[in-house]
Amino acid sequence: MAVNQRIKYRLVKVLCVGIIVGVLFGMLIMAGGARSAVKKKQKELQTAGAELKEENKKLEKQLKEVQAGESAADIAKKNAEQLASDADDWCLVLVNSSHPVDTSYTPELTAIEEDESVDSRIADETNQMLQDAKDAGMNLYIVSGYRDYNDQREVFNQTMSDWIAQGKTPLEAYEETEKSVAVPGTSEHSTGLALDITSGEYGELDDQQAGTEESQWLAENCYKYGFILRYPSDKSDATGIVYEPWHYRYVGKDAAKEITEQGITLEEYLGK
Ligand code: DAL
Ligand code: ZN
Repeated sequence: MAVNQRIKYRLVKVLCVGIIVGVLFGMLIMAGGARSAVKKKQKELQTAGAELKEENKKLEKQLKEVQAGESAADIAKKNAEQLASDADDWCLVLVNSSHPVDTSYTPELTAIEEDESVDSRIADETNQMLQDAKDAGMNLYIVSGYRDYNDQREVFNQTMSDWIAQGKTPLEAYEETEKSVAVPGTSEHSTGLALDITSGEYGELDDQQAGTEESQWLAENCYKYGFILRYPSDKSDATGIVYEPWHYRYVGKDAAKEITEQGITLEEYLGK
């Protein structure tokens, strides 16, 4: 073979090898890109799957309740039975707008202040919490403990009248009121397991209550005595009630710890 031809032959060979290497390299890069795109998609699908599973669980639960034909009256009766029982979960009863408690239910009460009382079964832990807060220099004021149906009706009617006085129509006033005061028959105060506590220096039931050192002490320590902050600021969708940095609910020490650590509501804890 002539020298020129050999050089040409080598050049063509180098060119071909270069093209093949380039194509392979390109394919590798594309495969890498496609792999990460697939991985991203897989992750998205996994997240969506988990959300759907959670949604499905909730729907199944709702379906079961509907199939079981649980009317508000059935739930109210069951709640009263759970509260009156000595089962471990007696204090984990869910009372909210869709879970009433029978109006005939009255707990055995123990006074923790002159005019305020709680279910006798939680009196010791409540008093311990109040005493420890006092020892830590807190000045607490108990606004409200147990409220029977009529007490709750008075609070509801008063708040509704206040809204009407501010220019709302009766329907608007009702809708505003139920965001912060439970409709009679659906209040935790009627279980004897709820307490409204404010600072002795600042007694308003508004968001600024959260800025008081009493509110902060309670929010940090209440779980040790079996209480939770029942209506947190970012959970109105779950609870149906606006932020109430003064309303504490007894659920027992184990549940209180778990609910507080996980930053969830009683509804979420019970999956209801
Ligand atoms: N303020 C709470 C929701 C009640 O009235 O029970
Ligand atoms: Zn309350």
